[in-house]
Amino acid sequence: MHCTKKVLDDLTWVGADDRRLFCFEGVYGVPNGVSYNSYLLNDEKTVLFDTVDKAVSHTFFDNVKYALNGRKLDYLVVHHMEPDHAATIEDLVLRYPEATIVCNEKIKTLLAQYFDYDMSERLHIVKEGDTLKTGRHELAFVMAPMVHWPEVMMSYDLTDKILFSADAFGTFGALNGKIFADEVDFMGDWLDEARRYYTNIVGKYGMQVEAVLKKAATLDIAYVCPLHGFVWRKHFADFLDKYMHWATYTPEKKGVTLAYASVYGHTENMANILAAKLSDRGVDVEMFDTSVIDSSYVISSAFKNSHMVFASTTYNAGIFIRMDELLHDIQSHNLQKRKVALLENGSWGPTSGKLMREILSTIPGTQFIQDNPISILSAPKANTLDELDALADAIAADIVPPKPVAAPVAEAPAAPLEISNDAFFKFTYGVEVLTTQVDGVDYGCIINTAGQVAAGDIKKITISCIKQNHTCDMVAKVGKFNISILTEDAPFALFQQFGFQSGRDVDKFADVDYNDRTANGIRYIPTYTNAVLSCEVLESYDLETQMLYIAKVVEAKVLSDAPSVTYGYYHAHIKPKKAPSSDQPEGWRCKVCGYFYEGHELPEDFTCPLCKHGPEEFEYVPAVTHEIKKGYICNVCGHFEECDGELPDDYVCPVCNHGKEDFEYAEQ
Ligand code: FEO
Repeated sequence: MHCTKKVLDDLTWVGADDRRLFCFEGVYGVPNGVSYNSYLLNDEKTVLFDTVDKAVSHTFFDNVKYALNGRKLDYLVVHHMEPDHAATIEDLVLRYPEATIVCNEKIKTLLAQYFDYDMSERLHIVKEGDTLKTGRHELAFVMAPMVHWPEVMMSYDLTDKILFSADAFGTFGALNGKIFADEVDFMGDWLDEARRYYTNIVGKYGMQVEAVLKKAATLDIAYVCPLHGFVWRKHFADFLDKYMHWATYTPEKKGVTLAYASVYGHTENMANILAAKLSDRGVDVEMFDTSVIDSSYVISSAFKNSHMVFASTTYNAGIFIRMDELLHDIQSHNLQKRKVALLENGSWGPTSGKLMREILSTIPGTQFIQDNPISILSAPKANTLDELDALADAIAADIVPPKPVAAPVAEAPAAPLEISNDAFFKFTYGVEVLTTQVDGVDYGCIINTAGQVAAGDIKKITISCIKQNHTCDMVAKVGKFNISILTEDAPFALFQQFGFQSGRDVDKFADVDYNDRTANGIRYIPTYTNAVLSCEVLESYDLETQMLYIAKVVEAKVLSDAPSVTYGYYHAHIKPKKAPSSDQPEGWRCKVCGYFYEGHELPEDFTCPLCKHGPEEFEYVPAVTHEIKKGYICNVCGHFEECDGELPDDYVCPVCNHGKEDFEYAEQ
């Protein structure tokens, strides 16, 4: 029985999952299965994109028949001849004898090599840039050699902007009923398997992949349909960014992949001691025992991390078998630009360190951290600990940012030096809305701390955020955020919405009538803003009251030419003036922004000068006489804290979370 999924009204996934496969390509374990994707386009002509592995051919043919719904098949586009996608071509053309096979010259050669059935009379040969009109749709063909075989090509649908990407952008894992990457937590649950798929299957061909990625970057892509894994229709830029790291052998993070080969546990013991020492120094370590782990997991980890450590016992006067296999695997995957350290063991004459170095020396960009491996005879001894300490120090020095050195403490001055809060108000801070999203929930708060700190190809900004703000925690959790830069026409209500309440208590977006999001899926504020920047956190620093984030900008667009609001402008023109400090005269108060109009009657055509609302948003306030209250008023949000003496040093504004330094004495 058929089992299909709709991608678009006229495009149907007709592939199938295989959860019984033990080893993909006979070598890579796939505990979560694998999907073989094929897509059927129902245009004026019908077009099938690739076939499937023979293991799932039964479901595939049911799917094709169902999706065709009685129509004949006009075209089969073959992107890749590896049998996981091409094994059923012969069966397909026997079932659909009118189908023309669209392919390139190299695929034509492979068709004759794989199949005895002569298909030469039904081929339509294409080359780079050729197009094929199928009715409403028009396909353009893009050659993609070595992604992952020499004959590979991709198709780009010019009509609906769909890239049929062959093996590129695939992942290990069966689809479990969902077809789109945005229907799952891809970056949380699937990225590791996508990385293991890419690095092991295509990792060797980084240069060729980079060339294809550069071609793809020139296309306006709405959908990506790969031959394995999910279809992409949202947030594809995030995945593309990962591919750029992998294709250029750029580590995704600073960390250590530590793999060891140990027969009786002493080499493992040395590796564990090093891991503990690295961890003590704040270094992330992923450890693998080569005797029990599929090498594909180590390769994947090594593509992710900046450093690799290998520890091997000496075996048959050489490297232990499984470590030898792993290192040759890394060598054949051309994993470049890594820093490497080596540990060796050998009861009679250790040689594994020297031999491991010889293999890894052949890979471009490999840098060895030590001149010689740490070497033990049978088991680690006290002096080994010193050597491991030194190695851990050297690795940590590369990975963990140095702590700022405190300036020498000068002799205490006779009187404390003045630190005037007013001096800080002379900075021309802008004001922004910081937004992020965690588990499908949107968060936002006001900040006035964003600023660019690096230009060039990778632009970087810093922000700091009060730690008590819920949004600050959420940014720390997902490492991604947007900055919406506010403009001078922003009403006070907007500041109230994002600045004077907590995301722990309310949904700040509950009553908005917009749902604008950038490619990272995070909301931004579309009005009263002139630009939005999407950012990914690179580093964070705990500043006690605030968190400082250094982030790279991954998307930035201008929304309007309105001038940015400064913190000074906000105080002078947007924040309502302080309430009268003595008796309250009769008047009308704006329910939106708090503006007070003094007088018995509010003019019918009155418009609030702050938030621009009309008379319907004003409420009558009778004249009152009250006692003068002494206290402190928050310069940020206007909260008044009644207080006879001084505010406590650790006082925090219950409304906007700012500290005592932002309060000034007031009487009300
Ligand atoms: Fe999925 Fe290169 O085959």
